[in-house]
Amino acid sequence: MVKFDFETYNNISLVNYNLDSMLDKFKKENKMTGWYKLDTNTQPIIELSECIKKYADIFIVIGIGGSYLGAQAVIDALSPYFNRNKPEIIYLGTNLSSDYMYDLINYVKDKSVYVNVISKSGNTLETIISFDFILDYMKKTYNDYNDRIIITTNSSSGKLLEYSKEYNFKVLEVPDDIGGRYSVLSNVGLLPISVTGIDINELINGAKECKSDLDNVYKYTFIRNEMLKNKKYIESFDIYEPKLYYFTEWLKQLFAESQGKCEESILPVSTVNTRDLHSLGQYYQQGKSMIFSTIMYINSQKNIFVEKYGKNLNEINKIVMDSVAKAHYPHICSNIIEIDRLDVKTLGFLIFFFEMSAMLGSYMMNINYYDQPGVNNYKENLNKMIHN
Ligand code: PA5
Repeated sequence: MVKFDFETYNNISLVNYNLDSMLDKFKKENKMTGWYKLDTNTQPIIELSECIKKYADIFIVIGIGGSYLGAQAVIDALSPYFNRNKPEIIYLGTNLSSDYMYDLINYVKDKSVYVNVISKSGNTLETIISFDFILDYMKKTYNDYNDRIIITTNSSSGKLLEYSKEYNFKVLEVPDDIGGRYSVLSNVGLLPISVTGIDINELINGAKECKSDLDNVYKYTFIRNEMLKNKKYIESFDIYEPKLYYFTEWLKQLFAESQGKCEESILPVSTVNTRDLHSLGQYYQQGKSMIFSTIMYINSQKNIFVEKYGKNLNEINKIVMDSVAKAHYPHICSNIIEIDRLDVKTLGFLIFFFEMSAMLGSYMMNINYYDQPGVNNYKENLNKMIHN
């Protein structure tokens, strides 16, 4: 269960927050609405992932931005910290570090490797360079390399599609009406998630549960936009459970790429606590008053008793969260999202919750929520400059 507290440490009054008209506009325009439908056919993904689970020691996920972040957010949130199940997931394509590539190849040799390369456009340079390198390794290492590589891309163009034709790789389609950062509940995110054994149908069920009652999405979206009007230009996603680290990375991408297209927009940042209370916490407490916070608090189900204080560790963690919110307020207002159990359904709920908010908030700001012209600028420069 997810509980929302928009009042205790907040000063925005929730009047006329209903955003049905924005939702109607989105449905009427019917542009890039694929993610909202929640109708991905999960059966082929589950079958494919069963086969990968059986034979792979290592599953390399190649992609950047929306092509991998959602999957890593879910996988990290639901996996143990240590001693994870096989296959081990390794991410590639988010940097061009020679050391990373070199160490990776050394690490995977003698292990059974399967690869999923993901790019909606099929042309993103970091992804293609990384894939070329891995393809070369796979060709040299396995006779059946064609069966070990899965391509996730659009159905009409791009380099990845050309590869799939040349080598007869299996292809999972990225529907045209789903943008990168909204694609976690499509073929893009669901294959890597399913390979780790997570129940992807339950993930989608959680999203459907959120879709059935949008009241809290409306409230949160309304508050964000009011914060912006009050010149709060930074939203800090604050967590007290490090497993959510990649979830906050995904949130940063979702909001920054959806809405960061004009001067009057919110910069999403994040803190992992209690670690960052001893660094950024100082600025938050006394620095420029331009931040508001959205805290995601998970009630741990593991009972670790701290004898000295007569309380369990979860209670103490929660007291810290509460004392921070109290110390910050009213310099910093906080929305509190309290999660009783960090399970797959709850994550599906939260994914859809934030996707809806990013979309609806963009409609309120009259911003195109699904493009990213700023990112494209660097991609274009790069493609020109690399050939010089
Ligand atoms: O949200 C987005 O659309 C972007 O972050 C893309 O996911 C990212 O740029 C990668 O693009 P592609 O999937 O085409 O390689």
